[in-house]
Amino acid sequence: MFPPRDDHRSDGDSMRILHVVGARPNFMKAAPVMRALEKRGATNVLVHTGQHYDRALSQTFFDELELPPPDIHLEVGSASHAEQTARIMERIEPVLTERSPDLTIVVGDVNSTVAASLVCAKLLLPVAHVEAGLRSFDRTMPEEINRIVTDQLSTLLFTTSPEAMDNLVREGIDPAQVHFVGNPMIDSLTNHLDQARRSTIVEQLGLPDGGFVVVTLHRPSNVDDPEKLSGIVKALDEVSRDLPVLFPAHPRTVKMMRTHGLDAFIREDGALRCVEPIGYIDFLRLMDRARIVLTDSGGIQEETTILGTPCLTLRDNTERPITVELGTNTLIGSDPGAIVREVRARSRAERQEPKTLPLWDGNAGERIAETIASWGGH
Ligand code: UD1
Repeated sequence: MFPPRDDHRSDGDSMRILHVVGARPNFMKAAPVMRALEKRGATNVLVHTGQHYDRALSQTFFDELELPPPDIHLEVGSASHAEQTARIMERIEPVLTERSPDLTIVVGDVNSTVAASLVCAKLLLPVAHVEAGLRSFDRTMPEEINRIVTDQLSTLLFTTSPEAMDNLVREGIDPAQVHFVGNPMIDSLTNHLDQARRSTIVEQLGLPDGGFVVVTLHRPSNVDDPEKLSGIVKALDEVSRDLPVLFPAHPRTVKMMRTHGLDAFIREDGALRCVEPIGYIDFLRLMDRARIVLTDSGGIQEETTILGTPCLTLRDNTERPITVELGTNTLIGSDPGAIVREVRARSRAERQEPKTLPLWDGNAGERIAETIASWGGH
């Protein structure tokens, strides 16, 4: 249990922890951490920056993960990186000043993560980074910049895989600040897998069980360059002649497809089906029952590893090399010929057994809460 914080405040309250979330991949990481802290008697304050605001990218996840409604919503919306980051910083500063949390927890690598960390650091408030130490070594990725800066500013760094420690030590972080706790996103997956296995989404969409491809695509490096985007979409169309392809498209990707004359592919009735983003539980089911997942997401590389579904990642590098070494993930880049070839080769291969990775066991949230409880006494 958390000790009363008499050293910080006179009211003897339990430890007050402020959680910052903003974009879709944050929600499944924050939920198990918040739950574990609450069980130990901490007081959670949840701040949603509003980086993602579409129902399908935000509220659906709050409902399905049973996250409490945010205590504070910053409503920053979409903008350039500088504008979005600056807006979050401006709006979160008074919240942090007023609430003066004992610890602020940021997750992942989105703009909300780095913005909140910067403000905390300037206010001399301690920050914990969940999913610290991941590195793609590709500084053209906005997320890589967010990861490096956030880690430099964090007091506690919670890592999901052993190589993260090496990455952090190389950047001058004191190993005593780093705690290998496992993967809280896998806590959410474990907690929701039974429910996902009751989902009828595969039948509702009329997909052949075990015989379809699921695609997600949103990285600027893939979707902002019209030639690249067009090559990928045409490769998906080609793939769909062999296997039905379900493509729940991120709003950013749809916007780019419209801007670059790929409207003809935004339809729900072909073998390549471009649909709205899908909720957490149904998407878990789809990943579980797909023949192949094609993606440029970070989290999906991890989820497919645990589910045992072959994942072809449309990138040249990954900050999650453990999914390639121990899992079912293969980096294939975004060359259209390679996409078609790899999907064909993979669709004939045997499905592998789901993998177990060190500490990806559903208890990462608990370990984080435990570490914070012992840290809190200092
Ligand atoms: C962000 C994260 C990325 C994460 C991804 C998950 C950063 C730098 N990137 O990328 O790491 O993998 O979320 O989805 O933080 N949009 C909407 N509705 C929304 C949100 C966005 O229509 O609710 C559209 C807007 O046109 C916006 C664009 O998507 O300009 C990009 O959104 P943004 O939050 O900037 O980045 P993502 O591409 O979503």
